[in-house]
Amino acid sequence: MKFFIDTANLDQIREAQDLGILDGVTTNPSLMAKEGISGTQAIMQHYKTICEIADGDISAEVLSTTYEEMIKEGDELAAIHPNIVVKIPMIKDGIKALKYFSDKGIKTNCTLIFSAGQALLAAKAGANYVSPFLGRLDDISVDGMNLIEEIRLIYDNYYFGTEILAASIRSPMHIINCAKVGADVITSPLSSILSLLKHPLTDSGLAQFVADAKKLS
Ligand code: E4P
Repeated sequence: MKFFIDTANLDQIREAQDLGILDGVTTNPSLMAKEGISGTQAIMQHYKTICEIADGDISAEVLSTTYEEMIKEGDELAAIHPNIVVKIPMIKDGIKALKYFSDKGIKTNCTLIFSAGQALLAAKAGANYVSPFLGRLDDISVDGMNLIEEIRLIYDNYYFGTEILAASIRSPMHIINCAKVGADVITSPLSSILSLLKHPLTDSGLAQFVADAKKLS
């Protein structure tokens, strides 16, 4: 199972990379705006910096929504670094753009997936990743994890190579449940990843070991 961090914050990306468990990064226009990045040059430079900090696939989302604009933008993003994965929204022109990039050998991540049908179409178009948004479904009282299970079943039925990149993660339990149902990748805020390492019995056990270790010297 691959671990991606879902942020455009360079300090958090560095911290996750330093942990040694990071397999990639995902961003989106909202996350870029949160970091105060604006203008084409600044956006391109930010992606370049992320690629220099983190190993693995780095998703960079197109800002446009027509086929012609998305392929122009995606080609420019892909030229920044070999690790860039062009992130394309799940719309009709997006399907055409996925096919264009797939034919060119440029990796893609189809974002804003909220149904199994959308995931099926993205796989047919040759997407390398699909991003079902777990948390946003849970937010409207729809079981996001059920969608991951449906996509897993469909992809396994037909041996689609598209990887399920579970997105919109809100908690460590989302990560654990994704691992149980076979998501290929999770992309998560750093806080949920770090929460995985916490347990009160680990803390109290270590405190006791540290205290007893002093008696040994
Ligand atoms: C996916 O790639 C998105 O960047 C992200 O996971 C969306 O998460 P949110 O619902 O917390 O905004």
